[in-house]
Amino acid sequence: MVRRQIRRFPEGQFVAVRGYGDEERVLGVAMLMRTDRPPSAKPKPWLRMIGGLGLRNHVASGRWLYGVEMAVDPDAQGQGVGSALYRRRLELVRELGLDGMYAGGMLKGYRRFRNRMSPREYAERVRSGEIEDPTVTMQLRRGFRAAGVIEDYEDDDEAGNCAMLIVWRPQPDGSAVQRRVVDDGSERRSASERPPRTATAALTATPAPPAAPAAPAVRRTASQRAAAAAKARSEPGSAS
Ligand SMILES: CC(C)(COP(=O)(O)OP(=O)(O)OC[C@H]1O[C@@H](n2cnc3c(N)ncnc32)[C@H](O)[C@@H]1OP(=O)(O)O)[C@@H](O)C(=O)NCCC(=O)NCCS
Repeated sequence: MVRRQIRRFPEGQFVAVRGYGDEERVLGVAMLMRTDRPPSAKPKPWLRMIGGLGLRNHVASGRWLYGVEMAVDPDAQGQGVGSALYRRRLELVRELGLDGMYAGGMLKGYRRFRNRMSPREYAERVRSGEIEDPTVTMQLRRGFRAAGVIEDYEDDDEAGNCAMLIVWRPQPDGSAVQRRVVDDGSERRSASERPPRTATAALTATPAPPAAPAAPAVRRTASQRAAAAAKARSEPGSAS
């Protein structure tokens, strides 16, 4: 599966690693594909959108990046790894000269509210900032815009199977981030611009496509990456 993702779109697969002497530990992963389907098109459920975990629906000439999956090792969460991965994804939009990036952000915090409101109402309150969702609020603070609710996006009981359609377009000035203008008229760096809180976290694009002979370090990274993704998936869930 990982090999097929790398073969189809090597530039879009990221792994965040921290060095321990000669060893590297994988802290998080983020997978993307390209699509020619704009975010204004009728949303599809996650698996149908990507065409399976091997990213069969990746379109090499597609004008949009689509967030396939992102997961940070639960032991490394809250240390800026996810923010660094998002920053790198948005940089890729500019590097490739694309129209933007979008994804379905799973509404992971819905389970706490399921007896009080529908997923759609929960999503609206997250969008307005009344409720903080552990995943979608984080994404909105990184410059994404909430563009709608996708029901039955993925089987995920915690999220009521629901995702927020999140969309990001490059700013006209070419910057990769949104800036907030503060009262004194100056600009403050948004959360997506701040450096990761861990100085040692580094982002590495996944290595060369498997057609090239794989060096031992490359193989090790690929398997660690799969293990980290599986671990994060088994904990509070994953997507986009
Ligand atoms: C969502 C996720 C990728 C964020 O990664 P991370 O490395 O923890 O993120 P960061 O450390 O960069 O923190 C980003 C923000 O999320 C907040 N955050 C991180 N973990 C959190 C948690 N468990 N609960 C609530 N907020 C959390 C941070 O406080 C920070 O807040 P800020 O916006 O005020 O700066 C990670 O928590 C994760 O893998 N979750 C499970 C899988 C998942 O939900 N994937 C995305 C699905 S669409």
